[in-house]
Amino acid sequence: MKGHFITFEGIEGCGKSTQIELLANWLSARNISVICTREPGGTVLGEQMRALLKNGTVDTFFSPRAELLLFESSRAQHVDEKILPALQAGKDVLCDRFFDSSLVYQGSARKISRSDVEFLNNFAAGGLVPDLTILLDIDPEESLKRLSLRGENIDRFEQESLQFFEDVRGGYIELAKKNDRFLLIEGKQSKEDIQNAIRREYISRFE
Ligand code: TYD
Repeated sequence: MKGHFITFEGIEGCGKSTQIELLANWLSARNISVICTREPGGTVLGEQMRALLKNGTVDTFFSPRAELLLFESSRAQHVDEKILPALQAGKDVLCDRFFDSSLVYQGSARKISRSDVEFLNNFAAGGLVPDLTILLDIDPEESLKRLSLRGENIDRFEQESLQFFEDVRGGYIELAKKNDRFLLIEGKQSKEDIQNAIRREYISRFE
């Protein structure tokens, strides 16, 4: 038996982590085994790469190709060490970001060609594709507002401009329009309404 691989995407502050937690609780209550994980990271090695990727400021020179390769390296480790074994054991895997993030952050926003990112995504994922991708869409202005309310240390990505996040959001919407595996949800709704939409989608796709 194979579990379902469900990824969550959206710009910072869109509410992914809340929705992942609510979905995991619901699945567990229905006796479905589930693990939650994230990218970059998810493994000991991957979390070290995550620190390298997030450190510094927006002015730190980080070659876009080096950045992409590090995300892909973290992904390859994550797929082989954690995601595939869990799916093969019949568990559902809920992942906070996966290769669509590379397509929109390194592709649409940092302007690396789509075909290069697609090639590396496929290579790093070893051909694995999510069964369902939830895109929580919010306005970048709302995102920046939510980030400043959080008041935590702002990382290298969170210091990017409004234009950067507009490019990311545009890339996501384009992907969602072209791919049946996406469910696009308006992130302004209440967290209960968003969660209900996700649960309805899970039932209609997988049960
Ligand atoms: P994180 O703190 O996990 O952001 P969030 O809480 O918004 O998910 O930081 C991950 C950052 O890395 C986030 O800004 C998006 C970026 N990212 C990429 O640029 N490319 C990728 O392939 C991935 C997985 C993340």
